[in-house]
Amino acid sequence: MRFRLLILRVVCVTALGLCGCTNAPGRPGPGKVPIVPGEISDFGVLYAQNCSGCHGSEGKGGAAIALANPVYLAVADDAVLHRATASGIPGTSMPAFAQSAGGMLTTKQVDVIVNGIRERWSKPDIFSGADPPPYSSSVPGDSARGSEVYATYCSSCHGAAGRGGQKASSIVDGSFLALVSDQELRTIVIAGRPELGAPDWRSDVPGKPMSSQDVSDVVAWLASQRPKFPGQPFQTTAKAMGEIQ
Ligand code: HEC
Ligand code: HEC
Repeated sequence: MRFRLLILRVVCVTALGLCGCTNAPGRPGPGKVPIVPGEISDFGVLYAQNCSGCHGSEGKGGAAIALANPVYLAVADDAVLHRATASGIPGTSMPAFAQSAGGMLTTKQVDVIVNGIRERWSKPDIFSGADPPPYSSSVPGDSARGSEVYATYCSSCHGAAGRGGQKASSIVDGSFLALVSDQELRTIVIAGRPELGAPDWRSDVPGKPMSSQDVSDVVAWLASQRPKFPGQPFQTTAKAMGEIQ
């Protein structure tokens, strides 16, 4: 009995020795061990996994605004990028990514993303003397004046009353306005959407840049048309709520 056990042990040990522990079948080699999500520290991987679905694979061409827009990056500072990435933008589809806000990313990973966006896509001398309106303004907009600002700066492309024209689509559509924040409207008016051919604040009317107040007012005018009861499709919901006949 003892002798048999001994032989069994010898056979087992030899078998293990032949296979070599690290190369045992099914056991992943060192290169194949998946990295724990919280340990990923490469900007390309973090951006591709978390942002590209909405902001586009190279920072543009997605449904949400391009982050690879040097005008945007010159107007929005790191605090803006950090806040949006970590805490999301309530009331919109921009999610919160920081673990502290219920997301999956560590504080370090949020920093990697913010620094990566800045390093990869900003151009330090983009303005060469031009003075853009500030990212945000505490002065409230005047929507009545905004309607005039709209006629001057926007109607040539977006058509009378914003309902769409030859060169650009409607920007007063209820479903669009229901999903976009006032800040995002301001961001788009200042930084444009160059990947789609939407001009920045100085190119709507060449030689006549918009002032910060112009931007605030046109945003107030757009925001005043946001439906009270957003739904999909907007018309049907509005009818059901007695908003339109
Ligand atoms: C599910 C879609 C979605 C994903 C995923 C997403 N975003 Fe966004 N993001 C949006 C939308 C939509 C907005 C505009 C929200 C609004 O109306 O204010 C936005 C806005 C932003 C803004 C603020 C823009 C401004 O006006 O200043 C930043 C910065 C930003 N996103 C960065 C990121 C980063 C970085 C990631 C990845 C970690 C990411 N987003 C992932 C949809 C998304
Ligand atoms: C030279 C033409 C042109 C002018 C002038 C112009 N836009 Fe646009 N705008 C575009 C194009 C092109 C797009 C992207 C495609 C589309 O929405 O049809 C766009 C997109 C937008 C969007 C984003 C829509 C979306 O789907 O994300 C907003 C908001 C907007 N413009 C607001 C304005 C406002 C406000 C003004 C005036 C201050 C203005 N635009 C002036 C051409 C223009």
